[in-house]
Amino acid sequence: MAILLNDANTLFTLQTNHMMYQMKKDRYGVLLHTCFGKRGSVFDYSYLITYADRGFSGNPYDAGDERTYSLDALPQEYPTYGNGDYRSPALKVFYPDGSFSCELKFLSFKIKKGKYSLPGLPALYAGENTNADTLIITLEDTRHLFYVHLYYGVLEELDIITRAVCIENHSNDCIYLKNVQSACVDYLHGSFDLHTFYGRHVKERTYQRTPIVHGLQSVGSTRGTSSHQYNPFLILSDRETTEDSGNCYGFSFLYSGDFSGIAEHDQYNQTRILLGIHPDNFTWALNPGCCFWAPEVAMAYSDSGLGSLSRIYHKAFRENLCRGKWKSERRPVLLNSWEGVYFDFNGDKLIEMAKNAAELGVELFVMDDGWFGKRDLDISGLGDWAVNEEKLGCSLSRVSDRIHDLGMQFGIWFEPEGINEDSDLYRTHPDWAIQIPGKPPCRSRYQLLLDFSREDVRNYIFEHICRVLDSAQIEYLKWDLNRSISDIYSAALPPDRQGEAAHRYVLGVYDMLEKLNKRYPDMLIEGCSGGGGRFDAGMLYYTPQIWCSDDTDAIERLSIQYGTSFGYPVSTMGSHVSKCPNEQTGRITPLQTRAVTAMSGTFGYELDPAEMNAYDKEAVKAQIRQFKKYYDLIQYGNYYRLTNPDTAESWHGWQFAAEDGSEALLCAVALQIHPNGPGCWLKLKGLNSGSSYLVEGKEYPGDVLMNAGLLIPPAKLEYESIQMYITEK
Ligand code: GLA
Repeated sequence: MAILLNDANTLFTLQTNHMMYQMKKDRYGVLLHTCFGKRGSVFDYSYLITYADRGFSGNPYDAGDERTYSLDALPQEYPTYGNGDYRSPALKVFYPDGSFSCELKFLSFKIKKGKYSLPGLPALYAGENTNADTLIITLEDTRHLFYVHLYYGVLEELDIITRAVCIENHSNDCIYLKNVQSACVDYLHGSFDLHTFYGRHVKERTYQRTPIVHGLQSVGSTRGTSSHQYNPFLILSDRETTEDSGNCYGFSFLYSGDFSGIAEHDQYNQTRILLGIHPDNFTWALNPGCCFWAPEVAMAYSDSGLGSLSRIYHKAFRENLCRGKWKSERRPVLLNSWEGVYFDFNGDKLIEMAKNAAELGVELFVMDDGWFGKRDLDISGLGDWAVNEEKLGCSLSRVSDRIHDLGMQFGIWFEPEGINEDSDLYRTHPDWAIQIPGKPPCRSRYQLLLDFSREDVRNYIFEHICRVLDSAQIEYLKWDLNRSISDIYSAALPPDRQGEAAHRYVLGVYDMLEKLNKRYPDMLIEGCSGGGGRFDAGMLYYTPQIWCSDDTDAIERLSIQYGTSFGYPVSTMGSHVSKCPNEQTGRITPLQTRAVTAMSGTFGYELDPAEMNAYDKEAVKAQIRQFKKYYDLIQYGNYYRLTNPDTAESWHGWQFAAEDGSEALLCAVALQIHPNGPGCWLKLKGLNSGSSYLVEGKEYPGDVLMNAGLLIPPAKLEYESIQMYITEK
């Protein structure tokens, strides 16, 4: 059992194979947080807490004359607003009398076998690969209006502990939730670094490491999606932690909307981490008898550096978050029409593209934006999900049939949440678009968003998408979203519930994706939001792969995929070889380098093969064969970052190794080329020290490859690449 109790049932110790997490109900019924870190002796770690007279940090009434007891200084499991703890709270509630100071006390607990799931929300699940238990601790507000159920999922072999929160109103009055964070962890001591992933459109998830200093450091999104700008994944580490050594703690939010991640270093050098829905666009009117569920956070810990922390997430997300057929089945190598032809195509042109692609060994042809409504540019047509047969020159099934005749599968692009004002749908239902009555809305890419918090809107779109999907043989769907939310408002909600619109929108997206998955269980669904604007663990529950970025430049991609790799496995990263010079940067890179980079993802092409010469076509055939050969190693093997592409001086390297260390694939790209430059050595990882390995016909001991490294020859060509297979002898 992974959940241990003391005799008095006041100390809760959660254990995975390598991690421990502990809470304690103290003498005043406050749930303290006492430990999060390396698995060790089961002991009452509350002995570490200092009780001192803290000036200007109040003492709860219950504590009587005990001036050394202050919530402002204590490590708490679920701190509340207005109760003498002046740090950032996990919970803020407006009571029926208008007050908003809240105090919680321990009430009860339950332990259940297996991992809980959440209604309408993504959550990790236990499979055959892990034991799982659930602990539910119930706190009650001292005015007896509501319960706070803290959920903990302990996934032992995965080394993951999940958290979620349910607020249940058991009073006769409505209460208003203003801030419900999903996870809070208080560290008593430590000098930490915060690792975050910032970016912008065409430059997502740039890795950033900063020391935590006194005050608040935060990332977040109020864009309605998790966003290009900040990713809902944080790492806290010791200052000295490296890729291969030291303590680090991961916090991944399984949510695709507004989020807030905070690190607060307080007056006593304690650090609080908070992760949850961003409170700015959020209030929730919780009626008597109702529950509100705050989404899940997956927490992980490693004492052996950032690389091993990432691999914990890679495995858990690949095997216990992604679902359905495509979790384990080899995904087809695809060719997407977007950068090849954009909006400029008809049926014959697509079939010609597909024919050329089939000859190269491509297995799935994806028709991107432009096949529906009046859609020759991005200014019109969104929302009108009816095939433009006039543009195609034939029916969709005709296109699909001809593509299948080529031995390929067929895929199609949708942007279900989007609507152009110049569309039949908008002309019929202007109130279905998110906008505030009487206020002209903010446009983005000439479009608005549909109010996905509304079931009637979702049902309409779902029905029209299904009509298209049922009209032809379609094996793949790309679900895109090309703007952020603004003017958040729902015509279907009363004024006092407008603060719910943003979260209800996300729940609506999840609801529709769930329905789509149920109705088309064999369909491969790829998520997308102007590239990687909604690349988060929440979406992975519904779409096992997500287009990583609209930046297809292989060199830019190294940094984007590097940042993404901290929290997400390679099998989820949509990545394509595109034309040269690159459409976004104009950069010229060798075709092989573009392939090596794209192979460290789901792999596909995004160009018009008709523009390729015979030499490149042969090279593409070889790349596809190569990818299939190494598929298992790349997609299911352990992923290792060898260098950081933002600081690498010559070669940037990364590597895959089989779980048992029997084979590996080294990948490297020459980022800088210097005449008479210094040498470059890459130290391999994940091999067996005692074994011998063959590298390009030469034999090396495993420990030598890992400790001394492999000499990488000086690059002769800018952006040259290496892909080296290494096998145990
Ligand atoms: C977004 C996507 C692209 C492409 C276009 C189509 O930008 O990220 O891949 O699908 O939309 O409009």
